[in-house]
Amino acid sequence: MDDAPARSDDKPLLQTLAGQEADRLPIWLMRQAGRYLPEYREVRAKATDFIDFCFRPDLAAEATLQPLRRFDLDAAIVFSDILVVPLALGQKVWFEEGQGPRLEPIRKPEDLAPLTAENLESRLAAVYQTLEAVAAELPDGKALIGFAGAPWTLASYMIEGQTSRDFSRLKRFAYGRPDAFEQLLSLLVEAVARHLIAQVRAGAEAVQIFDSWAGVLPEVELEAWSLTPMAEIARRFREACPGVPVIAFPRGAGLTYAGFADSGDFDALGLDTTLPLGWAAERLQPKAVVQGNLDPVKLLVGGTALAQGVDRILAALGPKRLVFNLGHGVLPDTPPEHVAELVARVRGTGS
Ligand code: CP3
Repeated sequence: MDDAPARSDDKPLLQTLAGQEADRLPIWLMRQAGRYLPEYREVRAKATDFIDFCFRPDLAAEATLQPLRRFDLDAAIVFSDILVVPLALGQKVWFEEGQGPRLEPIRKPEDLAPLTAENLESRLAAVYQTLEAVAAELPDGKALIGFAGAPWTLASYMIEGQTSRDFSRLKRFAYGRPDAFEQLLSLLVEAVARHLIAQVRAGAEAVQIFDSWAGVLPEVELEAWSLTPMAEIARRFREACPGVPVIAFPRGAGLTYAGFADSGDFDALGLDTTLPLGWAAERLQPKAVVQGNLDPVKLLVGGTALAQGVDRILAALGPKRLVFNLGHGVLPDTPPEHVAELVARVRGTGS
């Protein structure tokens, strides 16, 4: 008897990620749940703060499902945040209203000592409950995506203590204290792999690893601190969850995207906005399904900019081995009608 959960083969996103011919070209959007939706702002107001929101399965499940009620998207991505992992490791994390994340920063190797992955899954139980609640309500044909931040991007927030302009503290730590930095990356590899595996056990059918700040690294370190840890996570993940696709999003990786494709560790690559499509079609798509890469500002602006942007991606990368998405997340000022326009255009039913 096979007691693995039924991996539905009638879900376009999963068909495409498996390299199969899909019933239709799948589309979902990074940050498809968020402040651009009035109904999101309404549920968000019920939580005391953003962290509380992420740890309230009833509210988080509702936020996850909202974009699917409005738009004909092919997947839901669990509503959570990449910073729940540092929180679960024991670091202090909070959100300043209107400013973004704040963490009590790691400034010296000794600051790593209190961090532990020991109780990771019990500390993140609320995220898994959100996935279970969403899985129970997911409409037919829609897939459920779990996610985590990549070690380099998580380390950036853990060391800088917030979003940074030049990442100089992070880089000074990484270049100056390489042993301690490697120790942090190893801890994060273990934590992220376990978090992704637990999300699949709770109902996720594909996972994405976000390396939002990969692009600030020079060639050698990009491979060592972005590609290598992500590949190690993918290998551990695949051992525990064979057949569940892994999407890597190494934003800004440039020509090193080829290394991600050649590694064979990822089923799909999320392309950022800047990546040349002709090169991606030729160099990446034969080895990995590609996902992306519409500029989120074209979605915000709508009209001709949006229509031309969509058409160019479909012409260069479609219709096979492509998951339509943005090159980064939906911006808070995006009019929701533009998302409907985008979906219609991708479906071939737009004007
Ligand atoms: O819909 C989805 O895509 C799922 C939810 C999701 C969120 N964050 C919710 C969120 C996902 C996949 C993330 C990932 C995430 N979080 C990343 C990687 C992707 C990227 O954008 O590069 C990063 C770097 C973070 C860290 C983070 N969380 C920042 C920098 C911020 C502040 C910026 C902002 O937009 O306010 C957050 C907050 C956050 N995470 C919001 C949402 C919807 C906005 C919070 C609010 O409602 O006020």
